[in-house]
Amino acid sequence: MTSIPRDQWYVAAYGAEIGHDLFTRTICGEPILFWRTRDGAVTAVPDRCVHRRFPLSQPPSRLVDDQVVCGYHGFTYDAGGKCVAVPGQSRIPRTARLLPYPVVEQDSFVWVFIGDRAKADTSRIPRAPWLVSPDYTTVAGMEPLRARYSLLVDNLLDLSHETYLHGGYIGTPEVAATPITTAVDEDAGIVYVSRHIDDAECPPFYAKSTGLRGRIARWQDIEYTPPCLYKLHSRIAPVGSVPHPDGADPDAFHVEVVYAITPETDHSTHDFWCVARDFALDDEEVSAFLAESNRTVVLQDVEALNVLEQVIATEPAGYQELSINIDTGGLAARRLLQRLCAAS
Ligand code: FES
Ligand SMILES: [Fe+2]
Repeated sequence: MTSIPRDQWYVAAYGAEIGHDLFTRTICGEPILFWRTRDGAVTAVPDRCVHRRFPLSQPPSRLVDDQVVCGYHGFTYDAGGKCVAVPGQSRIPRTARLLPYPVVEQDSFVWVFIGDRAKADTSRIPRAPWLVSPDYTTVAGMEPLRARYSLLVDNLLDLSHETYLHGGYIGTPEVAATPITTAVDEDAGIVYVSRHIDDAECPPFYAKSTGLRGRIARWQDIEYTPPCLYKLHSRIAPVGSVPHPDGADPDAFHVEVVYAITPETDHSTHDFWCVARDFALDDEEVSAFLAESNRTVVLQDVEALNVLEQVIATEPAGYQELSINIDTGGLAARRLLQRLCAAS
C-alpha cells in the first residue's frame, strides 16, 4: 500500500462549490478554508486560527467583505492570510499569518498544491478540457469514500470489475473477457490502459443515452496521471465502425469520464466524478439519466471500497494479494505513486 504523495496538485472542489461564503474541506489531512473574493478569485488558507486553533469555517467565525473574522476572539485575516486585526491591542504580531495555499481554477476544478509551496509548478496540473468545452455536455458530482485513495486508484485502473460490480449498468460480459494493454510514459508519469472490444452487448448506460440499438464496438482508453487525475476516453460505435484516417469519427459517440481522486485523510477520499459527452448536448433527459446512472455506479464502487477498507483494517500483517493480467495498470499506478511518495 502506498501513502499520500506530497508536493502535488489535488482537486479540492468544483469551482461551482465555492462562492462568497466560507467553505471548508480537508485535503491530504489538512483542513483548508476556501472562499471566493469579490474579484472572483478563489482563496485557500489553513482552516485554523493562529491564536487558539479555532476553525475559521466554524460559526460564529464569519466573512466580512474579503476578510475572515475568527469566531472565538476576533483575529481578522485578509484574503492573503495576513492578520489585520487582533483584539485589545494595536500591535499585530509579525507571525500572525495564515500561509495561503497555491490555487488554480481550471477545467471546472479548484486545484490546490499540498506540500512545499516553492515547488508549486502550475504547468504540471493535468488537463481535462472537455469539462468546460462547448462541444461537450457534462454531468458531475462528488461522493465521500471511507477508504484510502489507493483503493479507488486500483478500482479505476481495472475496469474488468464493471462486469461483476456494475452488471446491468455499465458492465457486460465482454468487458471482463477482453484482455487489456498497459503502457507507462515514465517521463510524463502517466499510466495508459486500453481495452478495445470489437463486438459487445450495449449496456443500458450507453443504449439509453446514445439510442444505439444492437451490438457495439466499445473502446476504453484510460489515462491516469498520478496522484489525482484519471480520464477514461470511452468510444461507443456501431460494430465495424472505426475512426477515419484523419481522426474524424462521425459514427461514434464519445464520452470522457473524468475522476479526481483526492485523499481526505489516510483512510478517506473525495471521489469527484464527471461524465462529458459529445452527443445529445441539449437533451436534459440524457443529462439526468447519465447523472443518476453514473452516481449509482460510483456508489456501487464506494460501497465495495468501504468494505475493503474494513477488511484491510482487520487483516494480519504481511497479508499478500494475488495479482493477474488485469492488474497490470493498477500495479503500474502503484509504482508511480510510490515514486512520487519517495520524491516528496
Ligand atoms: S482562536 Fe481565533 S481569535 Fe482566538
Ligand atoms: Fe466501478
